[in-house]
Amino acid sequence: MGEHKRIGILTSGGDCAGLNAVIRAVVHRAVGTYNWEVMGILRATQGLMHRPPQAVQLDQNQVDATLTLAGTMLGTTNKGNPFAFPMPDGTVRDRSSDIIEGYHQLGLDALIAIGGDGSLAILRKLAQQGGINLVGIPKTIDNDVGVTERSIGFDTAVNIATEALDRLQFTAASHDRVMILEVMGRDAGHIAISAGIAGGADIILIPEIPYTLANICRKIQERQKQGKNYSVVIVSEAVRTETGEVIECSVGFGERRYGGIGHYLAERICDCTGAETRVTVLGHTQRGGIPSPLDRLIASAFGVAAVDLIAEGKYDQIVTWQNRQIVNVAIAEVIDKYQAVDPSGTLVKTARGLGICLGD
Ligand code: F6P
Repeated sequence: MGEHKRIGILTSGGDCAGLNAVIRAVVHRAVGTYNWEVMGILRATQGLMHRPPQAVQLDQNQVDATLTLAGTMLGTTNKGNPFAFPMPDGTVRDRSSDIIEGYHQLGLDALIAIGGDGSLAILRKLAQQGGINLVGIPKTIDNDVGVTERSIGFDTAVNIATEALDRLQFTAASHDRVMILEVMGRDAGHIAISAGIAGGADIILIPEIPYTLANICRKIQERQKQGKNYSVVIVSEAVRTETGEVIECSVGFGERRYGGIGHYLAERICDCTGAETRVTVLGHTQRGGIPSPLDRLIASAFGVAAVDLIAEGKYDQIVTWQNRQIVNVAIAEVIDKYQAVDPSGTLVKTARGLGICLGD
């Protein structure tokens, strides 16, 4: 069974559905199969910065009922790059050595980090600097992590956005309205293109494909001429104005996030088509809810495979999903290959084939 190990696990970046399912799988494999110890590190790298490091030992009983829970039982953060960490006095400090020291203080042999490309890049830098044996697991509703076909949380987010479109279809038709659904995804349009096709949207706008308002209005007017006095539009949060300005809103602490493109479009669509428009901003509902079966399945497979990598002594690797299988690749490769929607890929072709307007 190999030598005894004590491994750490943390969740980093924005939460999503399926994180607890990964933690559960890691604990079952590491404790149940290998008889190792698993330390759950609290609030991502912040738990390692703290003195004493904040971590809890996880056993199989604790993760028994976590398969269907959204969020992360370990807590997370998507703020505070440890290499330029914001201090209470307003200065920034490099806290990387505190994190590395925290890892060694806990006596860890390896660390499993569940994160998106931003978190994984930071953790890899820390691992290289401090001799941390790192294994990565991709998660993000944005599905923009390179190489892997799927990241944990994406499928659930698409289900939620699709369900929202299903609901909007009927109220749009009842009131002869143009309904606009603004979805997350950061710089990539994966949620919008997938949910848009699955939810029967008439117009899908993603940051990867430039649009004109004239094209959008033409589509709505064509439908009106066919007696369809309603349309459903899905738009990714990172879509810009027609002239290329980014639309953001302030979220406090001097930070800004995408948000507002739905309302921008609503006003202009109303002006040019005369249609009554309404906007739904789906927001963080896309990150919650019961994880879909596919997310639970991938989370379970990733968790088991990540522990097996440690058992084989293979580090600086990330587990990915390719052609229905787990494939391990170098974390560096994944970070290098940011994954946006391919404008000439299958989903875009499918949308066009269905007569969905992509704004171009
Ligand atoms: O990366 C996940 C994500 O939900 C993005 O889709 C979104 O732009 C961002 O995080 C929102 O961040 P926050 O949780 O800080 O509002």
